[in-house]
Amino acid sequence: MPVSRQALFGARGSKRMSSQEAGSIRLVRKNNPEAVGLEAAGMVANQLVEKPDSTLVFPTGNTPLPMYKALLHMPHLNWKKSRLFHLDEYVKPAGYNRPVPYETYEDYMRRELWDCLDANKHYFSHYTDNPAAYEAQVNATGGPDLVILGIGANGHIAFNEPGSAKDSPARTIDLADQTILSNFGSVGKQGYPTQAVTLGLKTILSAKRIILLATGEGKRDILKRALDPSTPADPAIPASFLKEHPNVTVITDFDL
Ligand code: GLP
Repeated sequence: MPVSRQALFGARGSKRMSSQEAGSIRLVRKNNPEAVGLEAAGMVANQLVEKPDSTLVFPTGNTPLPMYKALLHMPHLNWKKSRLFHLDEYVKPAGYNRPVPYETYEDYMRRELWDCLDANKHYFSHYTDNPAAYEAQVNATGGPDLVILGIGANGHIAFNEPGSAKDSPARTIDLADQTILSNFGSVGKQGYPTQAVTLGLKTILSAKRIILLATGEGKRDILKRALDPSTPADPAIPASFLKEHPNVTVITDFDL
């Protein structure tokens, strides 16, 4: 049965949605992308205060930009003991060396936050030929305390494209045409990646806590389908596996 807006959101704009499986999702509705970013940054800050040596896994994309901006305005935060990872990275097209005609996720993370932090930073770009080794480093820290996610137009999380199994490991993956189109503007553009490396759903879902950010009406439909409590999690929409996780907060700037 579809979930009504009233059932999803309480008076204060936040409510728990029970899923079919074990999990329960907390939905938080803010007014704009900046407020979404601020809410998420506050949760990251709390995590760091509670556990200074947290393992944090960060996303890229447009959606988390306000969160990074908000974090940069929290100079009192002590990141020194934190272990920072990011979710995914493009595989450089064969024959192309720097400068590549797109922004790598290492460049993104450096520019948006990490270059400003004194922390233990781990770049996936150094492991594009061995994604399992990167994932092993995440797990060697005790596993992620907090993973922050965006969602792709096709329901991917990180680069776990449709068809990804719940227990999928870190791996090299062919990007879906829709992803190439969203991220680079035109399918098969010369010099642009067609593959990426990604943490697998298994490690992402092993996080103690997950935050998913979605802003803009364009994300409503896919998010609604992913979180629909009346349908089981399905590899066709990888984000739907969040329904089976015990501690997920979804922050949006639209009504679901
Ligand atoms: C990329 C990333 C995802 C991200 C998605 C959405 O494909 N691999 O981690 O969630 O883009 O990006 P945006 O926030 O720009 O919509």
